[in-house]
Amino acid sequence: MTILSPSIVVFFLALLVSFPHFNNATASDACKAATRISPTIDLNFCITSLQSDSTSSSTNALGLAKIVVGLASKHAKTTKAKINKMLLDAAYGNIMPEIHTCRSLYSRMIDYLSTAADGLSSSNYADAKTYLSAALDAPCDCNEAFSKKQAPPVLSNENETVKQLTEISLALVNM
Ligand SMILES: *[C@@H]1O[C@H](CO)[C@@H](O)[C@H](O)[C@H]1NC(C)=O
Repeated sequence: MTILSPSIVVFFLALLVSFPHFNNATASDACKAATRISPTIDLNFCITSLQSDSTSSSTNALGLAKIVVGLASKHAKTTKAKINKMLLDAAYGNIMPEIHTCRSLYSRMIDYLSTAADGLSSSNYADAKTYLSAALDAPCDCNEAFSKKQAPPVLSNENETVKQLTEISLALVNM
């Protein structure tokens, strides 16, 4: 009866081609909303982080927050491992007290992130927010410990990564 018109074929082809974007919509929409809550959040970093977890395409803001808290925790643990190595490295002899300070800060951060994750799992969002806010201080406080000594910046990539991830988690919980 009706012949499939070329424009309809083009429409369906376009739909097909655009399918991957549907998967990404959650991450990019959530990240855009997160940057409106916290303007210091890097949009591309946020999207890349969320998309690094394949389950991010099929979850809500809360699910995304859980993913990012997990990433923040992973990075904080990697940073602590790096700090532990620095403590054994004579090259850092003059800034050992500061490295010790950072070790305690990151240890505490890991605990806070774990408590925040528990809060998210048990729908205790007030707790989650409190502990994410507390966790947010660690990378800055660590950096300040060094800047007081006018030492060359150490952990300067790690500090931004963990700070960004924690900021993103907090913004997602606040949605
Ligand atoms: C991370 O370290 C760099 C270099 O010291 C510094 O410029 C930046 O402000 C630090 N970020 C935080 C969150 O402390």
